[in-house]
Amino acid sequence: MFPRNQWYVAAYGREIGDDLFARTVCDEPLVLWRTSAGEVVALADRCVHRRYPLSKSHRVGDTIVCGYHGFTYDCSGACVAVPAQTRIPRTARVRSYPVVEQDSFVWVWIGDPELGDPTAVPRASWLAAEGWTTVSGMEPLASRHALLMDNLMDLSHETYLHGGYIGTPEVAATPIETEVDEDAGIIRVSRHMADAECPPFYAESTGLTGRITRWQDIELRPPYLYVLRSRIAPVGVLPEPDGSDPHAFHVKVVYALTPETATSTHDFWNVARDFALDDQRVTEFLAENNRAVVLQDVECLDLLEEILQRDGDAYQELSINIDTGALAARRLLAKQVRASVPAPTS
Ligand code: FES
Ligand SMILES: [Fe+2]
Repeated sequence: MFPRNQWYVAAYGREIGDDLFARTVCDEPLVLWRTSAGEVVALADRCVHRRYPLSKSHRVGDTIVCGYHGFTYDCSGACVAVPAQTRIPRTARVRSYPVVEQDSFVWVWIGDPELGDPTAVPRASWLAAEGWTTVSGMEPLASRHALLMDNLMDLSHETYLHGGYIGTPEVAATPIETEVDEDAGIIRVSRHMADAECPPFYAESTGLTGRITRWQDIELRPPYLYVLRSRIAPVGVLPEPDGSDPHAFHVKVVYALTPETATSTHDFWNVARDFALDDQRVTEFLAENNRAVVLQDVECLDLLEEILQRDGDAYQELSINIDTGALAARRLLAKQVRASVPAPTS
């Protein structure tokens, strides 16, 4: 259902502190915490003794003492004490997962630990950079990861599902351009609207009152990271010949898509803007509005998951031009799933 040999966002850095924090990623229950040196640690959330969740246990310094019978683990997952005997069994160790904390996210590597290259974690530097203000959150989805990918790759749904927030008639009416870079594993979908209604989401946050030029440039790196570069400007205002763009408003919408189980997903959403940086009213407005938009998607996708489970494979869906990005994403994802499954041994 999902490729395991990949980095996934397990949490925002701000979620991980001294307390033990539980989150399931790709069916693997994890316990995360921050050591006294400030490093984030991710271990399997099951004591080797009787599987008691370590997240329900307690910390003593940089060790976790199991809340059931006291097996004690260090940051590497090695058991350093057991009750009533000095000899610690050689196999007394819980799995430790590679972690990279950057750009406000905590990424974990779920698959073969030998293959996890920390330099391969994709960047979203503006989420924690000067010159940008970001609002963010996470909504749990009771639907499979692939449905969220579908949803984000086809923004024509904004017109119908998100009317009154970000949808206007021009989004669904404007054809898209799709580009697939198979080698880099990136899918790009662009929709440029030259003369469009300004939806409340942008009218309220930018102060623009008339019609706008609205560009949507999506970049998806299946399975885990999605960036929508949104450019808003008065009609006819284009970037300068040197590429600078001082008269437009820019928003980068970032989603980290993390499978929890085969049929549930962590939907990490972020909206970064390069205008009204210190305006608390705009910050609150975008946080509330984007969460409302995400919850509309959650309701839709949870419903689709129920329908998929009820109908099984018997139903033949129909795809059209707007689906080219989503179909390319499904194809890349299937390739990654195949690459993550170990070859059968004979
Ligand atoms: S279950 Fe953890 S020590 Fe027994
Ligand atoms: Fe949506």
